[in-house]
Amino acid sequence: MKTNAQRMETLSAHYFATLGSRIAALRADGSDVIRLDEGSPDLPPAPPIIEALARSAASPQNHSYQLHKGIPILQEAWAEMYQREFKVDLNPESEVLPLLGSKEGIFHLQLALVEPGDCVLVPDPGYITYSRGALFAGGEPYFMPLLPGKGYLPDLSAIPEDVTRRAKILWLNYPNNPTAAMATVDFFADAIAFARAHEVLVCHDAAYAQVTFDGAYAPSLLEVPGAKEYAVEFNTLSKSHNMAGWRVGVAIGNPNVLNALYKLKSNADSSHFRPIMDAAVEAMTGDQGWLKERNSIYQERRDLVVMGLRQMGFQADLPKASLYVWFRLPEGWSSEEFVQVLLEKTSVSLTPGTLFGRQGEGYVRISLTAATERVAMAMHRLAAALPVIIERIME
Ligand SMILES: Cc1ncc(COP(=O)(O)O)c(C=O)c1O
Repeated sequence: MKTNAQRMETLSAHYFATLGSRIAALRADGSDVIRLDEGSPDLPPAPPIIEALARSAASPQNHSYQLHKGIPILQEAWAEMYQREFKVDLNPESEVLPLLGSKEGIFHLQLALVEPGDCVLVPDPGYITYSRGALFAGGEPYFMPLLPGKGYLPDLSAIPEDVTRRAKILWLNYPNNPTAAMATVDFFADAIAFARAHEVLVCHDAAYAQVTFDGAYAPSLLEVPGAKEYAVEFNTLSKSHNMAGWRVGVAIGNPNVLNALYKLKSNADSSHFRPIMDAAVEAMTGDQGWLKERNSIYQERRDLVVMGLRQMGFQADLPKASLYVWFRLPEGWSSEEFVQVLLEKTSVSLTPGTLFGRQGEGYVRISLTAATERVAMAMHRLAAALPVIIERIME
């Protein structure tokens, strides 16, 4: 009996799925592993959000299937948040499509849009669901290098003509995972101009737009006048409101594209649990004051990590947003080897840059999503073990 379709050959289990099992085994053997690998916020959402969930769950009529697009007040809450945070006007019914986490929509959108022979422009390094979704849909990912010298922005003019001719989607993600780079509205305007010239859809992943430091502002792609004609933006409460396990995401923008995704999704899922939607509405429309305090906790961890790395002699920029510090290894060191030796010698788990693409070789990503004292402990362990790690890598 054949147990998988040919197209499954384009996928492997996600790195974090495999790493999770390895770490569970190390912990079962007594290792005190500090995980600074995945970007899963360690802090909970604010109490009113959890109270809204509990209140709604206590209501007997809230346990049935819901409308496939979710309750209208959820779409309205996203529209309200976009107006408040980015001054973007949205029609909640036609321009807001709730998702079961943004990853689901990022993957499925490509099944709804991409055909064999189409090119999909993806950042390298980048969040891997862009290229995985493109491949699964039968498309050809074209990897756009994100280089430090260019602020980790892709050079759209360097994309070959035969690629732009076949391009269906341009993926962007700012604040960026893994590099933590930011984009300006002017850059987004250039991306929309590119989309118009080449009849390409720009998909912007704004997962980290509300995790900013030092008063920085991360714009929405939809702030560009006329962007909705050529764009869809993905967003999520996972990082913005510490709700990664809740699976509350959204696709916002071009109504025809959202309709294609909705058609696919209505066959694949049946929306959220109603109490999750009620709590998501509270998250987006209730008091937002706690986010400032939450961001200052990440900022403290960021300072700890960047200063620690610099004292050890590594090159690391001070990020203005996102949950990550992206740092450079000395010339010739392999990201994967560094991360493996580090885990073995110190029980600190980081992410090799190569997980995000070829351009990630020579870099490592540190996630700021563990308690501050655990982050400090991880930096001490790294500093203490560095001579042994160097010796192993130089062998
Ligand atoms: C860039 C980026 N986009 C999307 C996601 C997925 O978020 P969600 O929890 O909404 O599926 C992540 C998660 O790490 C991410 O880093």
